[in-house]
Amino acid sequence: MAEKKDPYEAKDTGHEWDGIRELKNDPPGWWMTGGYISIIFLIVYFVLYPSIPLVHGYTKGLLGWTQVDEYKSSLAEIMSVRAPFEEKIAKKSAKEILADPQLSQFALASAKAVFGDKCAPCHGSGGQGGPGFPTLADDEWVYGGTIEGITESITGGRQGMMPAYKATLSEQEVNDLVAFISGLNTGKAHDPGKAVFLGQTAGQADCVTCHGEDAKGNPDVGGVNLTDKIWRFEGTQEGIKRTILHGVNQEDDKETRKALMPTFGGKLSEGQIKQLAVKVFMFGGGKKG
Ligand code: HEC
Ligand code: HEC
Repeated sequence: MAEKKDPYEAKDTGHEWDGIRELKNDPPGWWMTGGYISIIFLIVYFVLYPSIPLVHGYTKGLLGWTQVDEYKSSLAEIMSVRAPFEEKIAKKSAKEILADPQLSQFALASAKAVFGDKCAPCHGSGGQGGPGFPTLADDEWVYGGTIEGITESITGGRQGMMPAYKATLSEQEVNDLVAFISGLNTGKAHDPGKAVFLGQTAGQADCVTCHGEDAKGNPDVGGVNLTDKIWRFEGTQEGIKRTILHGVNQEDDKETRKALMPTFGGKLSEGQIKQLAVKVFMFGGGKKG
């Protein structure tokens, strides 16, 4: 090892403050080496890479590297990985995509951005729904949870329609209906209400045409299941009453329930819709068949 110099033997600069002398020591060797290496690195970098801005453009560097080129080539790489999947998706129906685990995983990942952009504002990022917007992640469906039903909901949109009964049913009939429907969910039978529901009273209600005799719903018209404790609107007695009195999507009724699923056919590509349908199905509630 080289003998360490005594730093106090260095040349005196002649400056002194309150007994503290300023000496002229060289910087340590490791520090100087680092400095020279950085200078060499800098020169090599300047020669190889784009670096110095000029009036028109910049020095291009010997390697001809640009960040944009690098981005383009990695994008091209991603596209070339995606292409075979996209091609298969274009040829297959949503149902066939679902049957292929690799393709459906691809669709799931690939539809994530579109779902976040176009669907999540109403249905939530995980399809969990919200007040006025149905949950897509459970197995209760207004319009049927088959892959075909889901595809149709996305392509054509949906607009539930239920008449308002404020003018055609008596107060008593409505109250009986409310008791009957609440009872379906709590296990308490209410026969007078059942009679109204089945259209056997003076008001001749037609509930069964859309909700079915067993009140379990009819997915063809969006008549929801009224027996399963899952509510599209409010399941309180007040809430149920409001739905019956004012209906769903009744134009001339201010208190009507609004239910409008926009149409995406034509706004999204067919491939995007297929991938979205697969994603919605795979939230967990999709029905085979
Ligand atoms: C503006 C709000 C809104 C947006 C955006 C929206 N939806 Fe909907 N969606 C609804 C409403 C409201 C309904 C229920 C319609 C009804 O009850 O008649 C619905 C119903 C559905 C249904 C049927 C659910 C069932 O239970 O049968 C599916 C599937 C669906 N939406 C998927 C999507 C997908 C996928 C997207 C994105 C491409 C999307 N929605 C975007 C509001 C929206
Ligand atoms: C023309 C079809 C149709 C008829 C007739 C009909 N409904 Fe409905 N009902 C619907 C639709 C559609 C919905 C809302 C589904 C949606 O858009 O999400 C609905 C929703 C409801 C809801 C709200 C359920 C919830 O989950 O919040 C209740 C309660 C209800 N109906 C009761 C009745 C009763 C009682 C009658 C008879 C007096 C009746 N409906 C007649 C189609 C109908």
